[in-house]
Amino acid sequence: MTDQSEEPEVELEARLAEQETFEPPESFVEQANVTDEGIYEEFEEAWPECWEAAADLLEWDEPYENVLEDEDAPFYRWFTGGKLNASYNCLDRHVENGAKNRAAIQWEGELGETRTYTYGELLNEVEAFAAGLRELGVEEDDVVTMYMPMIPELPIAMLACARIGAPHSVVFAGFSAEALATRMNASDSEYLITCDGYYRRGDALNHKEKSDKGLRQVDHDVTTVVVDRLGDELKHFLGKHAHDYDELVAEHEGASVEPVSRDAEDMLFLMYTSGTTGQPKGVKHTTAGYLAYTAWTGQAVLDIKPEDTYWCSADIGWITGHSYIVYGPLALGTTTLMYEGTPDYPEKDRFWELVEKYRVDTFYTAPTAIRAFMKWGAEYPEAHDLSSLRLLGTVGEPINPRAWKWYYKHIGGEECPIVDTWWQTETGGHMITTLPGIGEMKPGSAGPGLPGLDVRVVDGTGEEVDAGHAGYLTVNNPWPGMLRTLYQNDERFVSEYWQEYSDPDADEWVYFPEDGAKIDEDGYITVLGRVDDVINVSGHRLGTMELESAIVATAGVAEAAVVGGDHELKGEAVYAYVILEDGQEPTDAMRERIVDNVVEGIGPIAKPEDVIFTPELPKTRSGKIMRRLLEDIASGNELGNTSTLRNPDVVEDIQQQVQDD
Ligand code: PRX
Repeated sequence: MTDQSEEPEVELEARLAEQETFEPPESFVEQANVTDEGIYEEFEEAWPECWEAAADLLEWDEPYENVLEDEDAPFYRWFTGGKLNASYNCLDRHVENGAKNRAAIQWEGELGETRTYTYGELLNEVEAFAAGLRELGVEEDDVVTMYMPMIPELPIAMLACARIGAPHSVVFAGFSAEALATRMNASDSEYLITCDGYYRRGDALNHKEKSDKGLRQVDHDVTTVVVDRLGDELKHFLGKHAHDYDELVAEHEGASVEPVSRDAEDMLFLMYTSGTTGQPKGVKHTTAGYLAYTAWTGQAVLDIKPEDTYWCSADIGWITGHSYIVYGPLALGTTTLMYEGTPDYPEKDRFWELVEKYRVDTFYTAPTAIRAFMKWGAEYPEAHDLSSLRLLGTVGEPINPRAWKWYYKHIGGEECPIVDTWWQTETGGHMITTLPGIGEMKPGSAGPGLPGLDVRVVDGTGEEVDAGHAGYLTVNNPWPGMLRTLYQNDERFVSEYWQEYSDPDADEWVYFPEDGAKIDEDGYITVLGRVDDVINVSGHRLGTMELESAIVATAGVAEAAVVGGDHELKGEAVYAYVILEDGQEPTDAMRERIVDNVVEGIGPIAKPEDVIFTPELPKTRSGKIMRRLLEDIASGNELGNTSTLRNPDVVEDIQQQVQDD
């Protein structure tokens, strides 16, 4: 853990100095789902029963007996005794309630093709695919991996798995073959749903080649289903254990598949994410708590209503897409928009064209995208009618006040509240944010913890810091959407999240998200970023250990240290400091090999911004690499005292090297 007191104060002060407050526009408040300020007190007083409000948003096959069971803390259990099915809650009940013909998924491909799935149609296809999966041998509790881009078959496959009680594990399509194999091996997953390819900036990318390469590294047999996304554009062949998605669905058209009644605490899905060590963590989410929490936050924070067209521009391969493209919105019976491509293809106004075309009510994106929009200029949104927008959201990384204000003015026309939502893969749903119909907004500060959450900013000993001081974020009580454990690794679950500030002897458990933060006199929290070895590139989480192992796998590399440095668009970018083996030359070819290995090992999102060759790494007398110093060099910050280093001379060499590059 890094000492937060070393955080560069200058940038933070600048962020806070610019801070003004904004009241939620009256036009929004008038129609908001939640407007009563008393909700904070109500939830506090009635905790944990307050979370019945979330459970009430679902339909249960059997009612739960207890809201919360905490005997085995930190292995909390929510809504125990209850039974339900997530696919039933996202589909059947809306069809039964008269929404059969309402659009559930509105999809737009990069080339402009469109597909609309009504709730009725979506249910039919989910049932047909669920029947197909069963025929292929998928049974309750088998982990099914999905390695797919933003095509409707991805949420269909997720819901089909949920229907038959098979947990899914979605691997982001931009991740490498190696990353796919690591995750399939770690979860013993014997089924893979993938596709032939997809479009990126007009090019047809071959995705199947990457899946096949990954499959060759999986140490057990795998049955595969392949979606034909590209048709004649890219021919593909199916191997021995591979099946065509369309054929499978056609064979089972009209099938009726009873939703399996799952125990509240049965696993709904696994999602692998990066942490301090090289091995990704398999975050386990369960059926009732997760679904109730994403539905409740979808309603309270994103103000989702069934008649809305709601758009979250994240990728379903990340938790944001799971919670707020698929489960939350569909549980609430709204129309969720899915877009396959990037914001700048064919032109930089692509997103605004979509907002106008579909009359989008709520738009939820990441600060990295907002920074890009800002750089491209206001003329792109100005060319479109964005008056349908009612609410804006951001997620994934801190947003600076300048970007916040630009978003507020140029996208929201100063009439839409912005929710800056802090949360994580592990938390399942939103944790810190204003409620858009209640709280005043302070650009750059996410807001208070949600009702029912005890979020604090503490010092190294767990004592709350005074307003205005920096410390560490903690969550001092459990919540329904929380991860239950790390897949097949209870021990790591406890040591990663519950060790730092808990007092097991007193049975006091405190969740540590590994973020630094500052709190003000109104209880508004400004999140400063990770305090562990995780880099947040464009809102995507990358572990330095994973990056370093990909680099040292390059022939000729002796040692590597990877840090995050400031980046205008990405927020943070990857900087690699590399020591070569004796006799190896620091050439551009070597640099390229290193970059290629990172892209091969993890994916293009992890591509280093710069590779800096150095004969040594700055180390403390006890031999620890001074990462903070390397971060400062990468960000061009002024360096503090380097006299405590074992090898202070190396710092100047490295700085020189960076300048020469
Ligand atoms: O550092 C925080 C940052 O993203 C991390 C979680 O990453 P991940 O699990 O990939 O989930 C991202 C989407 C929920 C956090 O530990 N983070 C997320 N949202 C914010 C944020 N930092 C500042 N402000 C936010 N709104």
